Amino acid sequence: MDPVLSEPFRAGPDTTVIPTHWPVPGVGVIPMNAFVVHASEPVLVDTGTAALGEDFVDALASIVAIEDLRWIWLTHEDRDHTGSLRRLLELAPRARVLTSFMAIGRMLPDGPFPLDRVRLVNPGETVNVGDRNLRALRPPLFDSPATVGLLDDRSGALFSSDCFGAPLPEPGMAAARRADDIPPEVLAPSQVAWATVDSSWVTMADPVALGSALDALAGLQPSVVLSSHLPPVHDCLDRVVATLRTTPSADPVPGVTQAELKALLAGFEPQPEARPQPTKEKVHV
Ligand SMILES: [Fe+2]
Ligand SMILES: [Fe+2]
Repeated sequence: MDPVLSEPFRAGPDTTVIPTHWPVPGVGVIPMNAFVVHASEPVLVDTGTAALGEDFVDALASIVAIEDLRWIWLTHEDRDHTGSLRRLLELAPRARVLTSFMAIGRMLPDGPFPLDRVRLVNPGETVNVGDRNLRALRPPLFDSPATVGLLDDRSGALFSSDCFGAPLPEPGMAAARRADDIPPEVLAPSQVAWATVDSSWVTMADPVALGSALDALAGLQPSVVLSSHLPPVHDCLDRVVATLRTTPSADPVPGVTQAELKALLAGFEPQPEARPQPTKEKVHV
């Protein structure tokens, strides 16, 4: 049940993936990625899940000097994206947080946030990070209204936040370095499962409107699509986009019931060990 942090790897000349995968019984293995853009003003995209703690910080330190980070692009406020945020604001005193007003607002109930370290960004705006511009965009699917993905205009990498995620049947697939290597007959239903749970509104969505949003994303011709919850998409963008086009007609997914939770927890119960029966002591009277 614990997240597993794997070796960081390059998904392009200027982009490193910090990959985690999280086995969820009854669901599958969910990739959870953060990324570093090796711009002249280095950018971290999302900050891992809190359960990783210092392991995430150590992994990040292995690929960039943390004190040199200038930007932390927070795609949204969900806890699998904000785990090390406050810690990194301490370790990277020059870093500013790029995110939406809604994301900050939704984090404030957790405690004060240093608003002087924030630069708000909205879909359609660009941010210069030294040797490139990052263009903010709204991914076609999202689970938070705060979501802002981004396109690196120099490398062509597109960071799609939760869009294109998939719970995969085995750790090896979740830890793969290319989504292209996951068999299509496995990837497609896993994508639909993710989309209909994480963006459950999609089963009520207008297929034409969703199709237009997907066309707009594909029209950007990204060199790689980096989802927070899927290995990098290098060559199979047409296929994963085609799968998402089908999601408005998918069946809504009911929530997990208490009976299912009980059955799940029963599976975690330690098996009783065969113990010697206690011998009855003689009672002396
Ligand atoms: Fe999310
Ligand atoms: Fe997420």
